[in-house]
Amino acid sequence: MKHLIDIKDLTIEEIQNLIDVAKDIMQNKEKYSKKCDGKKLATLFYEPSTRTRLSFEAAMMELGGNVLGFSSANSSSAAKGESIADTVRVVGCYADIIAIRHPKEGAALVAAMKSEVPVINAGDGGHSHPTQTLTDLLTIQCEKGRLSNLTIGICGDLKFGRTVHSLITAMSRYQNIKFVLISPKELKIPDYIKKEVLEKNHIEYLETDNLEEKMPYLDILYMTRVQKERFFNEDDYIRLKDYYILNKEKLKNAKKDLCIMHPLPRVNEISTEVDEDKRACYFKQVRYGKYIRMALILNLLEVE
Ligand code: NCD
Repeated sequence: MKHLIDIKDLTIEEIQNLIDVAKDIMQNKEKYSKKCDGKKLATLFYEPSTRTRLSFEAAMMELGGNVLGFSSANSSSAAKGESIADTVRVVGCYADIIAIRHPKEGAALVAAMKSEVPVINAGDGGHSHPTQTLTDLLTIQCEKGRLSNLTIGICGDLKFGRTVHSLITAMSRYQNIKFVLISPKELKIPDYIKKEVLEKNHIEYLETDNLEEKMPYLDILYMTRVQKERFFNEDDYIRLKDYYILNKEKLKNAKKDLCIMHPLPRVNEISTEVDEDKRACYFKQVRYGKYIRMALILNLLEVE
């Protein structure tokens, strides 16, 4: 049985296939509207979510399937002390596929080991978020026309941002990718990503805290939210939360065809004045997220 726990579970050929199916869905929605007739997706969300949970649910509905689930740990038997392992075994009796989000790193992997139906990691703590990365890859492919030959700036909370870890892991497998990792020193990329992903794959990268200085070189600017819920100390969060605020002024030396991305939710890190800029892609990115999740559900359920 197939699961998606880490973006590395997919080869780049498999990723390309998902991107191609997602593009076909965008153009031929009708063709897919009954593909999951009679199938059910369960969303087990132990952490807050708007886009990921609702896009999974919308994706399944657009495929003609149904959805069930819970959106907080408090409204599930986790509040009574049930383990993830038991919960997924139970939910597998009701649903054909499970998307799970949990605050603990590794939770989705534990779920997959015990599950009798495919499990999708919809975010495990500060670790990884493979379906956001699939969303990001579809966005980059559609907006830039390529997944190679790109200088990608990633800015904000590179320490706790799980979308960042998965994106770097995925993009490190394409040709001629350079990363500019922009963060305050307290929120730098974890060492395991540097050693096991960037250095192991001989990827060119630099670390800086200066966004404006690097702006002219970027093809993609991936902004991220400072991950409040993963801080141990509120004072640190307050000190760092507004470290970067992207506005029109800071974009004045950026490339004309820069693609500005953000997994959302946004707090203050992108001023709303940037929303009107043609280079702002973050709301388009949301739309792509539904289509790539449709492609993923079809793939894991082995629907033709
Ligand atoms: C991200 C997440 O949950 O990691 N959100 C999302 O799924 N689009 C990013 C974030 O919460 O900052």
